[in-house]
Amino acid sequence: CGIVGYIGNEQAADILLKGLKKLEYRGYDSAGIALVGNEGIDLYKEQGRIAVLEEAVGTEAPGTIGIGHTRWATHGPPSRLNAHPHQSTSERFTIVHNGVIENYNELKKEFLQDVKLISDTDTEVIVQIVEHFVNEGLSTEDAFRRTLSVLEGSYATALIDNDDSDVIYVGKNKSPLLIGVGNGVNVIASDAMAMLHVTKEFMEIMDGEIVVLTQNNVKVKTLDGHPVSRDTFTTDIDESDTEKGTYSHFMLKEIDEQPFVIRNIIQKYQDESGDIKLDENIRAAINDTDRIYIIAAGTSYHAGLVGKEMLEKVAKKPVEVHIASEFLYNEPLLSSNPLFIFISQSGETADSRGVLVNAKKNGYRSITITNVPGSTLSREADFTLHTYAGPEIAVASTKAYTAQMAVFSILAMDSARAQEIQTDFNAIQELSLIANAMEVLCDQKDVMEQIARDYLLETRNCFFIGRSMDYSVVQEGALKLKEISYIQAEGFAGGELKHGTIALIEDGTPVIAVTTQKATNLNIRGNVREVEARGANACIISTEDTKQDGDRIVLPTINELMTPLVSVIPLQLISYYAALHRGCDVDKPRNLAKSVTVE
Ligand code: G6P
Repeated sequence: CGIVGYIGNEQAADILLKGLKKLEYRGYDSAGIALVGNEGIDLYKEQGRIAVLEEAVGTEAPGTIGIGHTRWATHGPPSRLNAHPHQSTSERFTIVHNGVIENYNELKKEFLQDVKLISDTDTEVIVQIVEHFVNEGLSTEDAFRRTLSVLEGSYATALIDNDDSDVIYVGKNKSPLLIGVGNGVNVIASDAMAMLHVTKEFMEIMDGEIVVLTQNNVKVKTLDGHPVSRDTFTTDIDESDTEKGTYSHFMLKEIDEQPFVIRNIIQKYQDESGDIKLDENIRAAINDTDRIYIIAAGTSYHAGLVGKEMLEKVAKKPVEVHIASEFLYNEPLLSSNPLFIFISQSGETADSRGVLVNAKKNGYRSITITNVPGSTLSREADFTLHTYAGPEIAVASTKAYTAQMAVFSILAMDSARAQEIQTDFNAIQELSLIANAMEVLCDQKDVMEQIARDYLLETRNCFFIGRSMDYSVVQEGALKLKEISYIQAEGFAGGELKHGTIALIEDGTPVIAVTTQKATNLNIRGNVREVEARGANACIISTEDTKQDGDRIVLPTINELMTPLVSVIPLQLISYYAALHRGCDVDKPRNLAKSVTVE
């Protein structure tokens, strides 16, 4: 979910709605805003996209103060009733909230025995408890602080009091939140991107702090009410980077941006003499550790699989890759001097953050590889490596994935050099070849579109197979396809297929095979023949070094360790066209959110 707030001189509705649209990547099953109107609070909420809400709000909604929310359902299904903002029984207090209140049942029992809750959400509990404390005689601010101190879980929340509506009360714990500061205007946002149309000047809020926000004042306090002083910073995100431009979808734009992102990474990680530019502390952390633990979710996890190969093969460092949500409650036996590397496009994924919090408690060192420096995972880890991919808006991750792998290649090469390991692996050289290869592939959209038409228009399922490096990339290819086209897709190790999955192959089942590794080329082709013998419709993606007649796509030659950066491009484009031609909402697939800030 995402929240926004505005307090200034202009009509708030438009500004809030524009902000919510920028936050739609955080969830989009329902949305709402509350405005301080001419006669009290006006509440607008709707199930569905922001566009539906916009329609309901119309163009005349009055009010220069307001809060808003876009939802990714956790407690209670998407519905108008469960959409935020939520109000207390007397309607005096109105709230928006991103996060999950874990002890909401206990809180209901303790404080709200006599209150009839209207929605199924954990959020309503917060606003009702504020009212409960106010009824007991506390001021709104004291009641707000008191309420936050009994909550367990995560929240970024904003509250308006109808009896004193020139103030917005803001609280934060674990969920991301920034205050935007302007001239005679202050705003709130889950992500700076949402309020760039108002200001570029932002202030970070830490866990366990509240903010009392008026038009001309930002007062940050601890939960006990002690004032905190905090500087602002100017964000360098360009508003135009958050627009689609001439593209029909963000996903296509972001796929096309990959060659530029890779060249940008080369530039950022090199000094004038062509040497790798890396924080000495990061270098030391990698060299000192006896085992690296890569922790991530979704696409970032897939990038971690490739990162492991690079670090092990080039830098000779043992690496384990773990799914964050699994690691969190089932920690493996750690080595004596572990180093944690978190990979996260958004830097906000709650599952990964949970692992980081524990790692810190145990005194382990940590690095976050992220596209959003200043994000929670970036702030809380010891060090950050920036992926410099620019804002990624489409829910299905593309350029962040290739950028993450590019950063790993640099890290691997740097570590090998620092340890004086002999290697002819030159990440920088490879990355410039990759950028060119990506460009060539992005120019072949008609080929990818035809493959989507030939294999994926009607099918119910699709299998992806590969071995070694290709196995990790086919897992990402399958994730891309299922995320946006809803075709049931799985990525398998080519050799494993015959041990069970091959039972699912029927006449015409599409099987996409990636073969970029000379050592496994013949084996995977054998696996292709096995599925073809059972009726599968196979599409082979190979390289200049592994190609055979009949392959549908032949990739330019690149270092075998780096092939996922290139072989993923056709997989991304094929998924894009499959989703497009099946009439799916490419940028905002059903049930998903880009940044999942709940465990
Ligand atoms: C969500 C998104 C995925 C993403 C994953 C991890 O599930 O839908 O696309 O890969 O979160 O996100 P992160 O920001 O941590 O890379």
